[in-house]
Amino acid sequence: MKEVFMEKVWWKDAIGYQIYIRSFKDSNDDGIGDLKGINQKLDYIKSVGADFIWICPFYDSPMDDNGYDVRDYYKVAQEYGKMADLKKLIKDAHDKSIRVVVDLVLNHTSDENIWFVKSEKKIEPFTDFYVWKDGKMVDGKMCPPNNWISFFSGPAWKYSEKRKQYYLKIFSNKMPDINYESETAFAEMEKVIDYFGELGVDGFRVDAIAHIGKDLTFADAKNLKKTYKSFSNLPNTHAYLKRFNKTFSKNNLVTMGELGGDPSKKDLIKYTTENELDMIFSFEQMSVFKKDHTINRKALIKTLKYKESLSSKNGWSVLFWLNHDYPRLISRIRGEQDNKNAQICLASLMYMLKGTPMVYNGEEIGMENYPFKSPADFKDVNAKMIFDNAEDIDAEFNKLKETTRDHSRTVMQWDSTKNAGFSAGKPWTYVNSNYKKVNVEKAQKAKDSILNNYSRLLAVRKEYGEALCNAKYKFFNKGGYMGYKVTCDGYTLEVIANLSKAERVLDLQGAEVLYSNMPKADSLKVYQTVVLKRSL
Ligand code: GLC
Ligand code: CA
Repeated sequence: MKEVFMEKVWWKDAIGYQIYIRSFKDSNDDGIGDLKGINQKLDYIKSVGADFIWICPFYDSPMDDNGYDVRDYYKVAQEYGKMADLKKLIKDAHDKSIRVVVDLVLNHTSDENIWFVKSEKKIEPFTDFYVWKDGKMVDGKMCPPNNWISFFSGPAWKYSEKRKQYYLKIFSNKMPDINYESETAFAEMEKVIDYFGELGVDGFRVDAIAHIGKDLTFADAKNLKKTYKSFSNLPNTHAYLKRFNKTFSKNNLVTMGELGGDPSKKDLIKYTTENELDMIFSFEQMSVFKKDHTINRKALIKTLKYKESLSSKNGWSVLFWLNHDYPRLISRIRGEQDNKNAQICLASLMYMLKGTPMVYNGEEIGMENYPFKSPADFKDVNAKMIFDNAEDIDAEFNKLKETTRDHSRTVMQWDSTKNAGFSAGKPWTYVNSNYKKVNVEKAQKAKDSILNNYSRLLAVRKEYGEALCNAKYKFFNKGGYMGYKVTCDGYTLEVIANLSKAERVLDLQGAEVLYSNMPKADSLKVYQTVVLKRSL
């Protein structure tokens, strides 16, 4: 007889920490973060409370999109180190009980990848490795095959003079999309997965995975604003993933898939319940941030409920507030009177949900956005493409200075020394001038810092993680005084954040205060958050 239990796997009650390698820690003073730099900080990562790390791409790349454009999957980019450094990092991390998840880019490669070079020359079996189409003649002018638009702005197609055809590229011009109707493409990417499985990584964050299946009729998008629907969350994506899943499982690799392109709840659930992915990253929480940089309380409680619902029925979701594609969390809520404690409230509400918490490097010390002054300041290819295609540069700048991905890519602030302790050389990107105030060393010393709150909160999360995985959640919101009650085996946990305008009396009878961001918990101050335990 077979009984069905909630599967006990390591990643359901684990805590993740995301590392943007280029900006994390430079070990050789060339101004660029690297694998050895990460190795030097493993103890710190552990002290925050993480059980695993996700490292953004470190593969050989021309760095058009900071490594998401992979030239050679089997080589470490020279500026990040060598394969031996990766092996050592995996070993040292494992010795410290930290698992290692690496980024896997399946949707596209660099146009400098040998597969593309061959495909462009129609060298078999690579001819159909990418999505190639003839152009259309319109009024005697060669135009792209259809009206699709790239995520980074402008047409989703680029003309190849060599092949006299267009290739699809839904991100930058140098990132051609792979065609998974090609057996060769599948076989090559399966080899990549096997290679890293054998190398000893514990899993993959699977990049842009919602887009691997395209509308193979290549019909024009009816609604240009939603052109991404032609290459997002389509049935062939699910089918391709079911095939990749066999290779992931064979190597016992955990997968966390990035699901952009506005997936429906049905789609999201499908990804994790039908042998495709283990966990999903979805982005509904970004609707919580208002234009005036305050928190939309109603949207917040709705999002929390939604997130929790994604981690039932064997589905599983990653819990996060930002990553390398979004501005810094504390800056997004700078309109709140006490944005430091407001961030801590957001953290406790999110990270005690059912799901797997993932902290983005710098979030735990409250790193802030960078004050960009002009369009020339941006480093990100996405921003550059927006300006290339812009009609009104000023308008685009005004939007981008809030939203640019460059905010979350400024260097990690370790201490008060030169370049925030990131590097003794000239950093490849900006150092926020607030680094003498906001840095790890200072945060470790201040009892009420965001960092110390995160590590205390995540310790509670860790202790009750397994119980939370199987518990029942009930949400409440009384004018911004909000949270949830979790019923576990023999006790309840209550996670409460006071995001209302007034102090609230709290009944602490029979309750144990597992966590509070302020000294006393008998009444909840505005921006106070607690985790309580009561026996049943
Ligand atoms: C994902 C990554 C982003 C990258 C894009 C293309 O969205 O998170 O940084 O630009 O995919 O690979
Ligand atoms: Ca370096």
